[in-house]
Amino acid sequence: MADLDAVLAAADANLDASLERLFELLRIPSISTDSAFDGDCRRAADWLVAELDRLGFDASRRDTQGQPMVLARGGAGSGPHVLFYGHYDVQPPDPLELWQRDPFDPAIVDTPTGKQIVARGASDDKGQLMTFVEAARAYRQVAGELPLPVTILFEGEEESGSKSLGPFLDAHLDELKADVALVCDTGMWDRETPAITTMLRGMLLDEVVVTCANRDLHSGMYGGAAMNPIRVVAKIVADLHDANGRVTVPGFYDGVEEVPADIAAQWGGLSFDAGEFLGEVGLRLPAGEAERSALEQIWSRPTCDANGIVGGYTGEGSKTVIASQASVKMSFRLVGGQDPDAIRDAFRAFVRERVPADCAVAFIAHGGNPALSLPLESPYLDAACTALADEWGKPAVLTGCGGSIPIVGDFKSTLGMDTLLIGFGLDDDRIHSPNEKYEFSSFRHGIRSWVRIIDALARM
Ligand code: BES
Ligand code: MN
Ligand code: MN
Repeated sequence: MADLDAVLAAADANLDASLERLFELLRIPSISTDSAFDGDCRRAADWLVAELDRLGFDASRRDTQGQPMVLARGGAGSGPHVLFYGHYDVQPPDPLELWQRDPFDPAIVDTPTGKQIVARGASDDKGQLMTFVEAARAYRQVAGELPLPVTILFEGEEESGSKSLGPFLDAHLDELKADVALVCDTGMWDRETPAITTMLRGMLLDEVVVTCANRDLHSGMYGGAAMNPIRVVAKIVADLHDANGRVTVPGFYDGVEEVPADIAAQWGGLSFDAGEFLGEVGLRLPAGEAERSALEQIWSRPTCDANGIVGGYTGEGSKTVIASQASVKMSFRLVGGQDPDAIRDAFRAFVRERVPADCAVAFIAHGGNPALSLPLESPYLDAACTALADEWGKPAVLTGCGGSIPIVGDFKSTLGMDTLLIGFGLDDDRIHSPNEKYEFSSFRHGIRSWVRIIDALARM
């Protein structure tokens, strides 16, 4: 085993170069959802392979039907075998005009609360995945080798549903099987308090396309007699919640569980201020189930949201038209034992009941995955908590996460592994939004945290 202080010192001594490497990765616009950027996703994958290779890992790019995977093996020793996962793809940067600088020209910006790294992907997830790579670098510099077997898996389709990942896991079970997965794609509780996320919401994506007349119609000539598909879609969306914010799809709450008492007690002690949380985005009034706290609404209760709705004329001026078609893209965040397939069926039945007999509805499935929770008795959890407390000078809190990371469910169901979700993002990092940033302090202490976690796991 290495001298931990020497590894931490090496990580700090490397910081300028670490940042320069992160900037190189941030300059590659690896937007997975838009095929115009396929070449850039491949470049990002190749960049990571080269970097891991230089670091002494046995690394390769693995092509898939979608964006390539990066797979690497390194480390040795009798400690648990860990699988580290992150994603190199990013969300599209638009609306571009709201960025204060080019989203793919990273910069350090000084603010009253410290330095920030500003670029698309700085926090989600390139800055985060590089914390692990840089920790591995420091460890190897000092000790020659990582103290436990490590497999690294970076994917390039997380932001567009991880479609290739399930088949990839199935096809490479032996290479990917490990004792525990480590994922750096979540946040801290606040800027001083580290967190381990033990509840992650699942997700279901579905699209509804309603067609009424066989062509767009003059709204004076046909208006009144012809059904309007926007009216049908609007009715569907409006019916999905009752006056108390509950979702009305029959069976939707099947499998939803109350938060276990020990977790509820932890959350109760977190002094979450709903007014502050919503205030930061210009809102005041929690919109979820009336009898639930805002923290429950984002962490432990399921949701139903329309993410986009289109139909008819949306250009300048006006046009008196009854469109032939209207559509809506829906997402559901799932918790506990909610079954994505059962909810898809129930939702589609709910929709069909609201489509008139002379109109048609088609559905486009965009994937789904169940929610996940980490067993609190996991021995890895204790080791990681201690390591985080040593770095931050405060115990780590156990949190939920309203977002989803599709693959984590498959790690459990396909590879039988639990996942430690440990990340250093902050709520105000503006992930998926203009002017995304990652705190320099998240980057530095993130690297140092992984050094300590690797060390603690190796000593188990
Ligand atoms: N890193 C996020 C998940 C996340 C969100 C963690 C908020 C912590 C706080 C991840 O990259 C993400 O955006 N996931 C998507 C998945 C979807 C595109 C299938 C999500 O949650 O919407
Ligand atoms: Mn992410
Ligand atoms: Mn994301």
